[in-house]
Amino acid sequence: MLLDALAGRGLILTGGKGGVGKTTTAATLAAGLAARGEPVLLVSTDPAHNLGHIFERDVGPEPRSLAPNLRALELDPASAVTAHLEAVGATLRRLMPAGSGGEVARHMDRARHAPGMAEAALLDRLADLAEAAARTGERLVIDTAPTGHTLALLQLPEMMTAWTDGLLKNREESDRFARRARALSGRDEAETPRDLEIRQILGRRREKLAGLRAALTDPARTGFVLVTTPERMPVLETAAMARALDGTGIAPAALVANRVKPGMDDAALAARLSPLDGPLKGVPRFAMEEARTEPMGLAALESAAERFRAVQTDSAGGSMDRA
Ligand SMILES: Nc1ncnc2c1ncn2[C@@H]1O[C@H](COP(=O)(O)OP(=O)(O)O)[C@@H](O)[C@H]1O
Ligand SMILES: [Mg+2]
Repeated sequence: MLLDALAGRGLILTGGKGGVGKTTTAATLAAGLAARGEPVLLVSTDPAHNLGHIFERDVGPEPRSLAPNLRALELDPASAVTAHLEAVGATLRRLMPAGSGGEVARHMDRARHAPGMAEAALLDRLADLAEAAARTGERLVIDTAPTGHTLALLQLPEMMTAWTDGLLKNREESDRFARRARALSGRDEAETPRDLEIRQILGRRREKLAGLRAALTDPARTGFVLVTTPERMPVLETAAMARALDGTGIAPAALVANRVKPGMDDAALAARLSPLDGPLKGVPRFAMEEARTEPMGLAALESAAERFRAVQTDSAGGSMDRA
């Protein structure tokens, strides 16, 4: 069973091409875990939010309780960017020398539209959520946005913090220069409280993102579930995604073939999935049947969670023994 294959992982992510069932799978897994008595926070990072639709309840940017053990929230990249820039801007204005307000404002304006900014803001928020979840023991199930976006999120480029680091480091350097000048003229050379605060903020932020990265690349803590439908194009895109994942240090924990037609046997399914034999060698596979009506509402999701069927991994061996 898929839920058992993911046992113990504090972070569960679903990824794949648009429309294959990532959100439905994430919601199903979250509902299933909660029904088994495990506290879960379900988070959507797809700007086209539909957790609310699936659960037939309002879901917003703050965690909302949907059932015993189940909370959900929808992270909106645009408001994450705004919140992130506000927090960073407040810090920068406080820490930069008086009179550099204009410089900070210009920098922030460029940052708002910089490539990777939305991902940086989302990551910041996810890192906070992951830290909190690790503390409380709540499992985090993350429904990621379609393929390209997901990879940007998973690659966690160092560049994501570079712009704040850059501005603050400049200031640190000019401070150091001023300090040296003061020292040369015989005045004190001590680190100012502001210097200390800058170093602490930069260090804390880097630590937080490094923590998320460490969790994401640790197969004992993270289960990345690739979702596809058993059709040619999604399968080929999933193969490309699996190869791209290879460079991120994140190992897929499972493949879900979603919307499998009732009655399709495992041999036929295996043939459909064969382009994945290489890129996802040894990764346990599960099938979810196409439901007659779209899976919606807590009861339907909970029961779907127990219906992921383990299927033959590839022609070389089965996943039954592993799953
Ligand atoms: N197993 C399934 N049976 C029937 N409909 C499904 C199934 N899985 C997903 N769907 C439907 O397919 C559509 C796309 O699913 P969704 O989870 O939103 O995909 P994604 O998040 O990957 O874009 C939705 O309308 C959803 O209700
Ligand atoms: Mg979705």
